[in-house]
Amino acid sequence: MRMRIMLAPMEGVVDHAMRELLCELGGIDRCVTEFLRVTDRLLPPRVFRRICPELANGGKTASGVPVYLQLLGGKPTVVAENAARAAELGAPGIDLNFGCPAKGVNNSDGGSIILREPQRVHNIVAAARAALPKDKPLTVKIRLGYEDQDNFLDIVRGIDSAGATELTVHARTKRHGYRPPAYWEEIAQARAIVKLPIIANGEIWNPADALRCQKVTGCTDLMLGRGALCRPDLPRLVRAASRGETLAPLHWPEVLALVTRFYELNLMHYDEHYAANPVKQWLVYLRGYYHPAAILFEEIKRLHYPKDVWPVLNNAKKEHSSEPMTCNINTA
Ligand SMILES: Cc1cc2nc3c(=O)[nH]c(=O)nc-3n(C[C@H](O)[C@H](O)[C@H](O)COP(=O)(O)O)c2cc1C
Repeated sequence: MRMRIMLAPMEGVVDHAMRELLCELGGIDRCVTEFLRVTDRLLPPRVFRRICPELANGGKTASGVPVYLQLLGGKPTVVAENAARAAELGAPGIDLNFGCPAKGVNNSDGGSIILREPQRVHNIVAAARAALPKDKPLTVKIRLGYEDQDNFLDIVRGIDSAGATELTVHARTKRHGYRPPAYWEEIAQARAIVKLPIIANGEIWNPADALRCQKVTGCTDLMLGRGALCRPDLPRLVRAASRGETLAPLHWPEVLALVTRFYELNLMHYDEHYAANPVKQWLVYLRGYYHPAAILFEEIKRLHYPKDVWPVLNNAKKEHSSEPMTCNINTA
């Protein structure tokens, strides 16, 4: 079966501009928006359009990759009515987030804390399923658990019986945070008890990791998060590796051109005082693989306004043109 590669939702960094750029590079089959938090009411359409500007393009990026809209909430009826609205507005699929570890989110009854109650996870997924047209994909994203993974298989069974279309498992508990390793072997256990297609996620930094993750989990499909931010061409490198091919990796000047475009796109959508923030965040990831990104980050980190940021970016184009270099994380 052909491997599918999903771009992970990442609040504050994988926004529509990032989705646009990474999808253009190729290798990505599907994106998911940053989470839209639903607490106690039906949100107005403009909120959905803000988190997913691709709704204006039939729910797809300009290069044609579908973008599922992610909801995060703890009340079945509220999640369900917002899921129905997302579908009406043209989202090609709805994704439910039960993985977010943020304290603020967990304290207000959302994200990974709900994994402590497998029945509630089931109820939320079942309510959303019932509210959506039968042919509208409803996907779910979980961690292995909250404190521990004791409930993991019950949660998976509950999501399956609630009628989800697919399940993505970030193979760590909330307590594990983002600390390596990811426990891919747990995903294999989930696959053994349900027919529900499972997408494996967590700690895939290079093509070799991806192939190992497929082998350990038995999953054909993978979701890439931080790895794709460190190496924007990781999806297409992984896809090539799955066919036994090796592609030349992107070099820094090409990545720098992407960073520049990212800033341009951000300036079109955000207040100019904030538009550099996502660029800085991306550089933090890029410096894990491209040494010049670390230099650029140092130069840019205290700047806010285009009049200050542009000269640094333009100068970087002239100065840094080195080959990709492996830095502190396992991205080779
Ligand atoms: C900064 C950041 C923001 C994230 N935001 C979301 C989010 O909005 N929704 C979600 O389901 N997961 C979110 N995640 C989790 C990622 O989608 C992914 O599951 C996790 O990073 C593990 O995959 P990776 O090892 O490939 O990065 C976020 C992760 C990070 C680091």
